[in-house]
Order: sequence, then structure tokens, then C-alpha cells
Amino acid sequence: MTAAVIDGKAFAATLRARVGELARAFEEKAGRKAGLAVVLVGEDPASQVYVRSKGKQTLEAGMASFEHKLPADAAEAELLALVDRLNADPGVDGILVQLPLPAHIDEQKVIAAIAPDKDVDGFHVINAGRLAVGQPGYVPCTPLGCLMLLKDRLGDLSGLDAVVIGRSNIVGKPMAQLLLAESCTVTVAHSRTRNLAEVVRRADIVVAAVGRPEMVKADWIKPGATVIDVGINRVAAAEEGKTRLVGDVDYAGAAQVAGAITPVPGGVGPMTIAVLLRNALVAAYRHAGLDLAADAI
Ligand code: GUN
Repeated sequence: MTAAVIDGKAFAATLRARVGELARAFEEKAGRKAGLAVVLVGEDPASQVYVRSKGKQTLEAGMASFEHKLPADAAEAELLALVDRLNADPGVDGILVQLPLPAHIDEQKVIAAIAPDKDVDGFHVINAGRLAVGQPGYVPCTPLGCLMLLKDRLGDLSGLDAVVIGRSNIVGKPMAQLLLAESCTVTVAHSRTRNLAEVVRRADIVVAAVGRPEMVKADWIKPGATVIDVGINRVAAAEEGKTRLVGDVDYAGAAQVAGAITPVPGGVGPMTIAVLLRNALVAAYRHAGLDLAADAI
């Protein structure tokens, strides 16, 4: 049996189109465009690619995009002052500071400076706390995208065994909270977990977010399980001097056992920016005091 391929690229395109429709409706009602500000410090090549892509997709969705680039040696105070200006700018509904930041800048301090109602990344402790206690707030984009793919595939997740591999603030922890809120039985595994293969073998849902190429093997997967691969790892390709992208899961092997699986690339990756646009649009409706039905997007 071969697993169904979960097409995150297509799902993300549909979500972006829906965001685009609602962004046009917002502009008509509010008399301004929804606005997303993205801040990049330094010249990390992967971050530059993401930021360019975010800017382009924000414009394509009919929203205003504000890009701010600071040099790698910018002072922390300069970044904090920029965040303050964006907090106060009524044309900016969402603020995203691209991570990782250079080592001389305290990431937690910068995240704490973002107004929680503009924190479309959902990284502020206020939003992390809201997620933990089940209050409405902003949820980190990658795990929310994973949840959308899971619900689209499986419908009701209630009672399912879910194993999340990875405990980062950006993916693992919020993913676990989201699955718990869907009434899954959630296990969070990490680098110190004993008998990881056995833990994963119990899972109806596996979310791999560890950043280790092809670590999750085919014989760890329960037959028919749904596998969500958050990993994006660049490894050497067979051809001399070339590289290729692989996930945290041995895709070729796992696809023989799983019921459904996300590919890399084209699975979770495209969902992150689509959900970011969704969060920014939700922020715009809230800031303008306009209603957006809970199930509208
Ligand atoms: N770096 C990698 N992923 C993300 C993300 O979702 N948001 C931000 N701000 N930085 C990131």
C-alpha cells in the first residue's frame, strides 16, 4: 500500500486565494488595506528567501507589505525602536521579526516588545499563554498549518494518539497544545526521549519537527498513520556538488506504511506563509472592529 500524498502546496494556494477575497472585502469596508510588516536583521540566505517570498505573497493577497531591513550589526535598541514604531503605526496590522536574530540581540526581548495584538507569529508569551489556556489569540503559523492539513485529511481528531517529535517554541510546543485542544492524546518526544521508535509506533498522527534529515524511519510508523513532516534539511545529492531538500522523515520508506504523508518540499512548507497571511488578515479585521465569522477562514 502506498500512502496518500497530502498536497500542502495546493491547500496553501486555496487558503491564499480565500485570504485574497477577504482582504478585498476588508479594504472595501475599512477603507484601507490590511498591512503586514516584516523585519529582517542581517543577511542569512535562507531568511532572505523567506522574507522575499512573504513580501511577494502579501502583495498578491491584496495586502500592504512593509519590509524593514537592518544590517547584521544593528544595535538591539535600534530594532526595539523599530518595533515600537510599527506597534504605533495604524497601517500595520501584523509584525513579524524574522528569526533567528544575530547572536548579540536577545530574541525573547524583541518578541516581548511586539504588541500582542500585532503578534501574527504567535510567539509573544501572551499569545502562547492564550493558546495554553484555550483563549482566542494568535497561533504560530507552522503548527496551525499542520493542524489545518490534519483536519482536512482526518476530520475529527478526537481520541487519536498524536506524537510530536520536537519541543521548540515555534513548532513542537504549540503543535502539542493545538492537538490537545482537538482532544488528541498527545506525547511530546525530543532528543532525550527513550525508545523513540516505540513511542512513535503508537501514533495515529506523527508530527516530526526536529531538523534531522530522514531521522524517522519507515518501521517506526504504525500502518495507516498520518505523517506530517515539518523538517526542511538540505543534504548532499547523489550528483557531485549538488544538494537536495529532505524532511525529518524517510519519505520513500514511510510512504509504504503510512495512510497519508506530507512531501518535502510541497507539504508543510507552503502552509507557513499562507497561515501568516491568514493571521494578518484576522488581525486587520479585529483592529478595524469588523466581524469575521469564526469559520470564515
Ligand atoms: N524563522 C523560521 N520560521 C519562522 C517563523 O515562522 N517566524 C519567524 N518570525 N521567523 C521564523
